Amino acid sequence: MQGDGGIMDVKTEIELNRGLLDFIQASPSVFHVIDNLKKRLEEGGFAECREKDCWKLQPGGAYYVIRNDSSLIAFRLPAARKPEEGCPFQGYHIVAAHSDSPTFKIKTRPEAVTENRYVRLNVEAYGGMILSTWLDRPLSVAGRVAVRREDGGLDTRLVNLDQDLLVIPNLAVHMNREINNGYSYNLQTDMLPLMGLLPEKGPESEEPARPSPQGILLREVARELGIAPEDILDSDLYLYVREKGRVAGRRGEFLLSPRLDDLQCVYAGLEGFLSAVPGQYANVLAVFDNEEVGSGTRQGADSTFLEDVLLRVQDSLGYGPSVYRQLVADSFLISADNAHAVHPAHPEKADPTNRPVLGGGIVIKYHGGQKYTSDALSAARMRLWCERAGVPCQTFANRSDMMGGSTLGNISTAHVSLRSVDIGLPQLAMHSAVETGCGRATAQAVAAFEQFWRE
Ligand code: CO
Repeated sequence: MQGDGGIMDVKTEIELNRGLLDFIQASPSVFHVIDNLKKRLEEGGFAECREKDCWKLQPGGAYYVIRNDSSLIAFRLPAARKPEEGCPFQGYHIVAAHSDSPTFKIKTRPEAVTENRYVRLNVEAYGGMILSTWLDRPLSVAGRVAVRREDGGLDTRLVNLDQDLLVIPNLAVHMNREINNGYSYNLQTDMLPLMGLLPEKGPESEEPARPSPQGILLREVARELGIAPEDILDSDLYLYVREKGRVAGRRGEFLLSPRLDDLQCVYAGLEGFLSAVPGQYANVLAVFDNEEVGSGTRQGADSTFLEDVLLRVQDSLGYGPSVYRQLVADSFLISADNAHAVHPAHPEKADPTNRPVLGGGIVIKYHGGQKYTSDALSAARMRLWCERAGVPCQTFANRSDMMGGSTLGNISTAHVSLRSVDIGLPQLAMHSAVETGCGRATAQAVAAFEQFWRE
C-alpha cells in the first residue's frame, strides 16, 4: 500500500495471511463477504453506485456496485485523457473471483423434532462439499433477513448467530460398522444439525405450556437483531463452520481454514486492487456469487452484471457503444479460483506432467475443452506479469481420463468476450469444511495482481 511518504508500504506475508484469516472469520456468509469488501472499499475512498440510480462517473474516480448483497464489482478509472484520443482509457484489467463457498442452506420452517426432545434444523446442500467434514464440529448460522419496516417497506439485515449453536453428530461406529468402508451420507437423514433440546415434560397435571418448536431459529435471529420475530418476513440463512483459520506446518507453510476457495483469491484481489494505481487501463475487481451452483443467477458470472457495469461506465463518461467494443477488444480478465495441488496420498490423481504443489507459486489452469480460458497468448501474458512481480508460476491440467471442475472465466467471457486466463492458488482438500491452503500464495497473488493492475 502507498504509505504517507509515498514509500511502498508492502504488507508482509504474515500480515497478509493474518488479514486473510480475519477476513474469512468475519465473513461467515456470502452477504458478509460483500459487506466486508464494501467496508474496505469505503475506507479506501470508493463511492457506491446503485444500479437503479443515474451514474455520474469522473475520470480518476473509484466506485463499486453491489447486486443482491452477494456480488460486487469495483472499478478504478484512470485519469482523464484528451477528448481527441477517442476513448477514455485503453481497456479493462479485471480480476474475477467468487464470494460463495459450499455450505448448507437452512430451509423455510426448519425445526424438526425427534423423540419429542431433539430439535434439529432441516437443511439442504448448497454446492458440492465433502459431507463428512461437516460432522462433529461446532457450527452456527449466518445470512440475511428481510425485515418489515414501520412504514410498511422492507429492510435487509445481516445476521450472524456468533455462538457454538449446532452440531451434526455422527452415528457411533458401534451402530454403523460400515462407517470406515465408504459410507454414503444421506443429505436428508444424516446431515441435519442438532440445535437444542425441548424442555422435559413434567407430570400431566402440572405441565407448563411447552413452547412451540416452530420458529425457534427465527426467535434466535430476532433476539440477535433486537427486533420482534413477527417482523422477520423471510430469510436466506446458511450454516458455517466455527473454527477460525490458522497458520500451520513446521514453518507455517499451510493455511487451515474454511472457505479458502475462493476467499483467498477474493482477499488477495482486494489487497492488490486497493494498492494499485491504474496505468492505461481501468482496474476492475469482480466478485461473483453462485459459482458453486453453476453461476446461472441474476448476480452470478452467467448474468449480465459485468456487462451492465462496463456498458454504464462508457455511457456515464459520454462515450457510445462502439467505444465499449473498442475497450473490450483490448481488455483482459484474470479468472482467479483456487486450484488443486497434487495430493501427497494420491499423486496418481494428478496429471502426469502438470503437477502443482503447495508453495510452487500461482497455478495457471489449462483445459483442451476450454472449461478454463487460458490459451498461449493469455497464459503468456500472465507469465509475464508474474515474472515482473517476481512470483513463480506452475501449471494445472486434469488427467485426460478425469472430468475436472469448472469456474468463472469461460462463463463470464460468454457475456463480455475478452481475453482471459484461468489461475488459482494451490490448495488441498477443496470443499472440505476446513481446507488446506498455501501460506505463501496469498502474498504471491497480491503481487501478481498489483503488477497486472499497474500496467
Ligand atoms: Co472455487
